[in-house]
Amino acid sequence: MPDDELILRPIGFIRTEKKPLKFDARHQPDERQAETSRLELLPGDKYQKALKDLAGFDRIWLLWWFHRNKDWRPEVLPPRGPSKRRGVFATRSPHRPNPLGITPVQLLAVKKGYLLLGPCDLVDGTPVFDIKPYIPAYDSFPEAKSGWIAEVDAALAAPPAFRVAFTEAANEHLAWLRDSWGIDFRDRMTEMLARDPSPHRTRRIRSRHGDLFDIGCGAWFAVFQVEGDLVTVRHLKPAFPLKFLTDPARPVIPDKEAQLAFRKRWPAFVD
Ligand SMILES: C[S@@+](CC[C@H](N)C(=O)[O-])C[C@H]1O[C@@H](n2cnc3c(N)ncnc32)[C@H](O)[C@@H]1O
Repeated sequence: MPDDELILRPIGFIRTEKKPLKFDARHQPDERQAETSRLELLPGDKYQKALKDLAGFDRIWLLWWFHRNKDWRPEVLPPRGPSKRRGVFATRSPHRPNPLGITPVQLLAVKKGYLLLGPCDLVDGTPVFDIKPYIPAYDSFPEAKSGWIAEVDAALAAPPAFRVAFTEAANEHLAWLRDSWGIDFRDRMTEMLARDPSPHRTRRIRSRHGDLFDIGCGAWFAVFQVEGDLVTVRHLKPAFPLKFLTDPARPVIPDKEAQLAFRKRWPAFVD
């Protein structure tokens, strides 16, 4: 093994309901959610012994691997705030030279072979390398400055700069998606447009022709217009082209049946 390489082996894997790349997935654990996750340890007495004395800590650090990432970039575009690239080491982006994640997660229970955890930001199947107790006296510095994040947080704490309205068609599309397919991104999309509807790669907002824009919401686009401080969502449309939706070689397309049904029902709203 070359001197500049180190080997890490997982101690276990996260099991969670969290689906990868969901439009409404939060970027840090959302502790208002009542969700739980499990850290399933690899078999063996050694790991079970290593958990001794862990009960009693409210929180633990998980050290883990962004195993779904294949690349890294020195500068990244964070999803929140203005469209401005930041050095990756000044962010929590998954696109790192060594894609290591750290999360201070709630420890709900220590069980035989697994830990029961509170909400976390790891997708199902994520390999975990280590566990350490979270110790507020050592790990928490609430007065510490947080650079550009503080500026973005202050901007986000201000009232939203835009009002968001929906045409009759947009309302009809959103209600159909919610009632017939259980797909509901209205609140998240409204929140994003009310903050800042300007083009942004990570937020998937782009300029279309004329004065129209669209925002990507999972497998859907919402087409909108901006006049002064008013954002009007005109209609939705499926994000995947028909040739992808009907290609049997691409079996895993999110909301595939709903996208096909939308095309049939509202052909005039599809490119
Ligand atoms: C913005 S990162 C922050 C992670 C962590 N709190 C940190 O600072 O290391 C969290 C996002 O990583 C993504 N993610 C979670 N598990 C992943 C994995 N195994 N591979 C790639 N991306 C993952 C999820 O989309 C989640 O919203």
